[in-house]
Amino acid sequence: MSKEIQIFDTTLRDGEQVPGCKLNHTQKMTVARELENLGVDVLEAGFPISSPGDFKAVEMISKEIRKPIICGLSRAVKQDIKVAAEALEKAARPRIHTGIGTSPEHIKYKFATTPDKIIERAREAVKYAKSFVEDVEFYAEDAGRTDNEYLAKVIQEVVNAGATVLNIPDTTGYCLPGEFGQKIKYLAENVKGIDKCIISAHCHNDLGLATANSIAGVMNGVTQVECTMNGIGERAGNTSLEEVVMVIRQKFKNQYHTNINTEMLNPISRLVSDSMSMPVQANKAIVGVNAFAHSSGIHQDGVIKRRENYEIIDPREVGLDQSIIVLTARSGRAALAYKAKQIGFDLTKDELDIVYKQFLTLADSQKEVNPDDLKELINKSFSSVA
Ligand code: KIV
Ligand code: ZN
Repeated sequence: MSKEIQIFDTTLRDGEQVPGCKLNHTQKMTVARELENLGVDVLEAGFPISSPGDFKAVEMISKEIRKPIICGLSRAVKQDIKVAAEALEKAARPRIHTGIGTSPEHIKYKFATTPDKIIERAREAVKYAKSFVEDVEFYAEDAGRTDNEYLAKVIQEVVNAGATVLNIPDTTGYCLPGEFGQKIKYLAENVKGIDKCIISAHCHNDLGLATANSIAGVMNGVTQVECTMNGIGERAGNTSLEEVVMVIRQKFKNQYHTNINTEMLNPISRLVSDSMSMPVQANKAIVGVNAFAHSSGIHQDGVIKRRENYEIIDPREVGLDQSIIVLTARSGRAALAYKAKQIGFDLTKDELDIVYKQFLTLADSQKEVNPDDLKELINKSFSSVA
């Protein structure tokens, strides 16, 4: 039987904290409703102590969104945890997400403390959070740069204190997939009682490896992936939700599954991008405008013959109508005939030869030849032939 991989969405927390991505309450509620429809298992609604506005957003989402677990972030600080619990009070399934930095850098330069004191704070934070809710997720910030033996000690303490979910963040996007997978495997093999907990991956994309690292985590025992729509998040971003979901669907069909309705991926990507005024890069996997666009003659010819020649995903599976053939100076006769047919011209071989010559001259002078340009060009070609 295939194993469920839970999707923990942090678009409204790690994503929204990015400069320029801030949403008002109405926009947050709209995104939260769509994330619920998308099928996320956990929705991280915000960081309640960070501002009265974020507190209110977590409170509103907790009241209305009933299907996913609603999660609120806190540091390993009593007041943070208390405020998170208050914001989550009305949630059907509340989760407090608390934690502390565990890497040598964080211990020495962020907290100016000792490894033992970090363990003590981690344990106390989890115990305190457990006094409010049953479901407590612990994050070992900068776990990517934390020595595995020490990390296992921290995790053992929080498991003993009652943590239900163990978040292993590669906060600085430092790990290679093999290293991250190895880290998860080490914890799975060396922490007693970890099999009763959910192990979570929270990877950042500083080296462009966030998705690869999350998948390496899954292959080694992770059953929850933390991610954002369009991969938005601090610096180079977080693991992109659409990528993880589609990798699991494409490459691990018989081993793993998620609860995501993949046909909503493109519509929700646009909603997030529009409401945050954060454009998606054109060549972004799954949701970029060029993700299913074909522009070179060789590829266009192949895709017209059979879509699967150049596409591993059916665009309808991710909420798009169809693949796109873009006419450029690199396009061939097959694409030109195909596009001409779409606007009502069924060209013979000789007609196509004539139009193609003129098409190339036009295409060399501009980036793309759109349907109106093509219509004009065909009409002109025929009137000059006549
Ligand atoms: O990147 C990170 O470590 C985080 C934690 C707060 C979970 O976002
Ligand atoms: Zn993060």
